[in-house]
Amino acid sequence: MSEAALLLDTLFPAAVATASRTEPGDAALLYPEEARHLGKAIAKRAGEFAAGRLCARRVLEQLGVTGFPLLVREDRRPQWPAGIVGSITHTHGYYAAVAARSDQYHAIGVDAERVGRVGRNLWPKICTAGELIWLEGLPEAEQARAGALIFSGKEAFYKCQYGLTESWVGFQDVALEPLDAGLQSGRFAVRPLVPLKLEKILPAPWSGRCRFGDDLVISGMAFGA
Ligand SMILES: CC(C)(COP(=O)(O)OP(=O)(O)OC[C@H]1O[C@@H](n2cnc3c(N)ncnc32)[C@H](O)[C@@H]1OP(=O)(O)O)[C@@H](O)C(=O)NCCC(=O)NCCS
Repeated sequence: MSEAALLLDTLFPAAVATASRTEPGDAALLYPEEARHLGKAIAKRAGEFAAGRLCARRVLEQLGVTGFPLLVREDRRPQWPAGIVGSITHTHGYYAAVAARSDQYHAIGVDAERVGRVGRNLWPKICTAGELIWLEGLPEAEQARAGALIFSGKEAFYKCQYGLTESWVGFQDVALEPLDAGLQSGRFAVRPLVPLKLEKILPAPWSGRCRFGDDLVISGMAFGA
């Protein structure tokens, strides 16, 4: 198993099926119903869309679902089969999908980011005032990883909560806090800073997990049934 596949495999409990790859996908391998969503997409988008769909096909197979075209909903989410919740992510040179049975998980979210691509210039957009103070207080070597985790963790949270609420949440609406031994713990909490629809369904804070690889951070969140 590659390092990146191992990171994803340990991100979620065993009941969650995972699949990843490091190469863009071949759009010719998509089901015709899936390929229709690509329209006149540029090669980069076609490659990431196909990679995500091909990973999704593998996780669905692990859950016993075969030959299922994963269509795109109006809100851009994948239309997972009845009884399955899932999530897709792609970043430069890394593509992944996760899925689980909905009688075990109500919602799931995964997000991967390249650490080197979440520059300081992005911090004011993605970080709250408290997160900025935390980042500035870290040793310089840890700052880039922590900044990328804030981005990735919030995106994973967003995807997971959207599955239950179908609601928009902004970067300044929640705060991400690493648990225990900071970045090494592999666990973080997300707390609401404004009233969120999710709080009416699941009490806050919401916990997630993260894994760091070479220039890569992957975050995951799953709401158990
Ligand atoms: C949807 C969104 C989260 C995607 O994140 P991203 O880092 O840009 O991109 P990723 O490659 O990780 O994920 C893209 C995949 O997310 C999935 N996706 C799209 N919209 C989604 C939604 N509303 N809910 C869950 N998943 C969604 C799709 O599968 C998409 O891939 P595909 O188009 O190839 O199928 C982001 O574009 C967005 O709209 N964010 C809203 C605001 C936000 O991020 N808030 C964070 C603070 S909580």
